[in-house]
Amino acid sequence: MARTTRTIAVVNPKGGCGKTTIATSMAAWLAYGNSVALLDMDLQQSASDWLQLRLPDNPVIHPARGKPWPPSAPVETDYLIIDAPAGISGNQLEKILAISDRLLVPLLPSPIDMRTGWRFLDNLFRQRKAGGHRCQIGLVANRAKTWTLIYRELTGFIDQFKAPFVTHLRESINYIRAAETGLGVAELPYYQCRRDWQEWEPLIQWVSK
Ligand SMILES: Nc1ncnc2c1ncn2[C@@H]1O[C@H](COP(=O)(O)OP(=O)(O)OP(=O)(O)O)[C@@H](O)[C@H]1O
Ligand SMILES: [Mg+2]
Repeated sequence: MARTTRTIAVVNPKGGCGKTTIATSMAAWLAYGNSVALLDMDLQQSASDWLQLRLPDNPVIHPARGKPWPPSAPVETDYLIIDAPAGISGNQLEKILAISDRLLVPLLPSPIDMRTGWRFLDNLFRQRKAGGHRCQIGLVANRAKTWTLIYRELTGFIDQFKAPFVTHLRESINYIRAAETGLGVAELPYYQCRRDWQEWEPLIQWVSK
């Protein structure tokens, strides 16, 4: 089995909160200067579809296999990024906790997402403690409209947890463009993504430190 230096999982059982968006853009970002593999654990295979769209002149991102567990990449990698599926719990979550160095939880500014997020995070911290896992958990506000009241509520919600608020990512058409072209926001033109790049910097620092 090829060795991986650092494993980063993007996890939240709530569907549509941005797991695949963040996992794919992070893989693309880290692929500049690092060897990166991406494990798509979702039966919908959205991250795998995205990987297929990448062109030969984009930095290579290796597809990782999840079976047998622990996952393996075809080559030695600096980063293994895991795109977790919606509805994850129990054993599947335990398996991810056991192998991850960093676990990113995207959260949307919405009352429904905050309620389900509360239950998930409460359980996640307990499960990490019970299992004696060493992975660091970081929270990301996704689809952020920073001028809204609900965004302020989300930041208040995040502050209640003993986990770093890694960054916020604005709601942007750039993520849609990136998804449909097999790119990450780091690979779209700077004039178009300057703000997104700024928002990504703390995330990349947190996963790589
Ligand atoms: N910051 C953003 N700005 C604009 N659109 C976004 C952003 N983040 C995610 N999206 C869009 O929201 C939708 C859901 O995102 P995504 O597929 O990444 O969520 P997910 O958590 O992986 O969903 P699932 O649980 O179904 O796997 C997608 O259409 C995606 O393009
Ligand atoms: Mg997904």
